[in-house]
Amino acid sequence: AEQKDMTGFNVLVTAGPTRESLDPVRYLTNHSSGKMGYELAVNAARRGAHVTLVTGSDQLPDPPFVDVIHVESAQDMFDAVTAVSHQQDMLAFAAAVADYRPATVSQQKIKKTSDHSVLELTRTPDILQTVGLSKKPGQLICGFSMETQDLLDHSQEKRKKKNADLMCANSLREEGAGFGVDTNIITLISDQGVEKLPLLSKYDVSRKIWDAMLSMKSHSNS
Ligand code: C5P
Repeated sequence: AEQKDMTGFNVLVTAGPTRESLDPVRYLTNHSSGKMGYELAVNAARRGAHVTLVTGSDQLPDPPFVDVIHVESAQDMFDAVTAVSHQQDMLAFAAAVADYRPATVSQQKIKKTSDHSVLELTRTPDILQTVGLSKKPGQLICGFSMETQDLLDHSQEKRKKKNADLMCANSLREEGAGFGVDTNIITLISDQGVEKLPLLSKYDVSRKIWDAMLSMKSHSNS
């Protein structure tokens, strides 16, 4: 059994992909399964936290003892998160939020009228950055970063830009890491330094992430 070292903390986790509708039958999405975020939610709940999971995944069963909010688009996820973010002690943003959505959503199924078609896209709101830049004293924020090149530099940059305390740099290049699989290879980046974790189950990665967040919590004065 886990130690109940997160008792009394309100924790929010985002997970899974988002779906951006194009018309009544089509949408844009990505390869996220939601596993990393679900494991973060499960581990925090077992450690005694009150957990809210905002998820765009429909591949996984709702974890027990967790408040689960199902969302579809990036805007839905933004609305669900910002409605409760001020009540949270710690937030972990594991969702693979779509960066763009179709500029218009057609009410009718779009017909194939020509051999070529161009789709206009528009930016979605950055949920982590919005919450990070309005962070309350004592609140701790964890983000994830997936890149195919210059992973550590980009992740460090993102951590600063989005005002996250911890950035989990997620290898896409290495065997056993990333989408769909039950294991992951993560490098933890914080003010305390850079720590590369070995290949671990996503559940064990989630433990390490909350361990790191709790150690930052005890170093801060709240
Ligand atoms: O900038 P990038 O998408 O690489 O940042 C990834 C981090 O930001 C992840 O933690 C992801 O959940 C979060 N994010 C977000 N809202 C967005 C885009 C990314 O919360 N629209």
